[in-house]
Amino acid sequence: MKHLKLVWLCFCSILLIPSNLLIGKNRFDFEIPIYNKFKIDSSAPNEDQINQIINLMTLDEKIGQMTQVRHFDDINPDDVTNKFIGSVIHTQGPSPGEGALGWQANFKKLQDKALATRLGIPLLFAVDAIHGQNTYNGATIFPHNIGMGATHNPSLVEQSASITALETQATGFNWTFSPCIAIPYNEKWGRVYEAYSESTDLTSKLVSASVKGYQGNLTASHTVLATAKHFVGDGSTDHGKEGGKISLSMQEISQRLLPPYKQAVKDGVGAIMVSFSSLSGIPLHAHKELIMDTLKDAMGFDGIVVSDWKGYSRFGKNDIINAGVDLIMAVDGDLNVFQSGLKKAVLSGQVHLDRIDDAVRRILRQKFRLGLFQNPFPDPSLVSHIGKPTHRLIAKQAVRESLVLLKHQDNVLPINKNCKKIVVIGEHADNVGLQSGGWTLAWQGVSENYSRATSILEGVQKIATGEVIYDKFANNNHDDADVIIVVVGETPYAEFMGDINNGNNNHQLILSKKHQDYINSYTNNGPKLITILISGRPLIVSKQIEQSDAFIAAWLPGSEGDGIAEVLFGEYNFKGKLPHSWPKSYENFEGKYGPNFWDESNIPLFKYGYGLQY
Ligand code: BGC
Repeated sequence: MKHLKLVWLCFCSILLIPSNLLIGKNRFDFEIPIYNKFKIDSSAPNEDQINQIINLMTLDEKIGQMTQVRHFDDINPDDVTNKFIGSVIHTQGPSPGEGALGWQANFKKLQDKALATRLGIPLLFAVDAIHGQNTYNGATIFPHNIGMGATHNPSLVEQSASITALETQATGFNWTFSPCIAIPYNEKWGRVYEAYSESTDLTSKLVSASVKGYQGNLTASHTVLATAKHFVGDGSTDHGKEGGKISLSMQEISQRLLPPYKQAVKDGVGAIMVSFSSLSGIPLHAHKELIMDTLKDAMGFDGIVVSDWKGYSRFGKNDIINAGVDLIMAVDGDLNVFQSGLKKAVLSGQVHLDRIDDAVRRILRQKFRLGLFQNPFPDPSLVSHIGKPTHRLIAKQAVRESLVLLKHQDNVLPINKNCKKIVVIGEHADNVGLQSGGWTLAWQGVSENYSRATSILEGVQKIATGEVIYDKFANNNHDDADVIIVVVGETPYAEFMGDINNGNNNHQLILSKKHQDYINSYTNNGPKLITILISGRPLIVSKQIEQSDAFIAAWLPGSEGDGIAEVLFGEYNFKGKLPHSWPKSYENFEGKYGPNFWDESNIPLFKYGYGLQY
């Protein structure tokens, strides 16, 4: 008894040492407070140490760990300490500072606030780095997942994810909300491009590659925690509505939607984000059978189930905790609603302490896996790797391999680089914002150029030795040209803003009248016509395919637009194969959409896996 009391007194005195005495050096040469206030024993199993920490935690500290806030915006930095915040998200909103070192420095300040708490548990820093560290101007931006799906190349997906992880860490984050492993059933959904494919098998292969690329062994300073999202049925709602109703049977969910999650769990994915959708009237956030019984118990997922945006106030408050959600994106005014709401629920017995301990255990487990208790800070030496040439070469390879040649006649390809006159048409040809789509620098993407990226036009200009004319809006007659390259497509969008018929936008499954006219102007006029489509999904372009001598689906290629020119001019042949069947007409969309739904009376223009070479 005496002995125990002595241990306790020693422990308490450690906690009472003034923080200015708890100063140590880390390997980056700046002073940091000693954060492992409960003495991390690296030889002991993580689970034992996690249990020790949980035993020390108050209810407020536990709820704090379950809370994710948006930085420098709807919180005051001291909230991190006072409310025991466990993680921070960066997304649309204020910039975290000037340059990558500035971001790191500001995140370090927030980390210091977390380390200043009684137990000093480090923060997770999360970001939607979904096709490169796309929130940072100057990072390497890869094709969106639909393009990566078209490559059918797992090792390229793995390399791209590991580069993204490094550039993400270089800007101060240790967690990405990627990959999206939806199986899109309907092209009307505004997030089709975030997913790899309508094929469950291909998606499972690529998610495996992606998780390996992001996470590596996780303790290294250049790897990040990955998140498979959005569990489950995000892409299979009625009419492709973001956050809509899913009318699939459990059997179909299990056969077509769950296998990529099983694969991600097998590969040790650190987190899974829940979907905005609902099934049989139950929001997925509150779907205990799917989260607790299927994902956690049956599949054995031992990582973090994270809510989506304001998940707590939107989808049933404490019901979502009881259903198995562990960490809450308590943003846009949700911080106090969540923390006080959950505390009341625990005190009244509506949520059991065991559930809270399970949630906290899962969060601490990932913090241990990341090595945050040993080193909670980003590595300044990584900054010089952001957007470096070797990274861009891989992104360019991904662009090349993602291109799908849908039509080719009269040997129009490859273009002879010595031909006399090439005309390039369309605003998408010289605008890296437009070619990159949503989730690039801003949530909804941008419509202007950004740093260190190349446009399609620049790629053509680099390779062609003859005259290259850029007639952005197809104003002039070019009968004397050898070849005309028309670049048309969608303007950037993200999430519900890209849904067709949502009343908020002008997006359609066909080209705009203006873009149709670009093609009309140069049909049957002499020069050969090559059309490049920039889009986040297959569009209904049957007529434009007919009008063109060659037609290329280029998806949303990202920062390395010149990769397209390398294929146009024959430096590389086409390799991409369709990751989605390609609709022929609106009638193809009457019912549900996806490979199982095609029948004799409703066949696509091109089947899944189609793609030509020259
Ligand atoms: C999206 C998620 C994203 C989150 C954080 C939500 O609106 O559905 O995919 O990770 O915002 O930005």
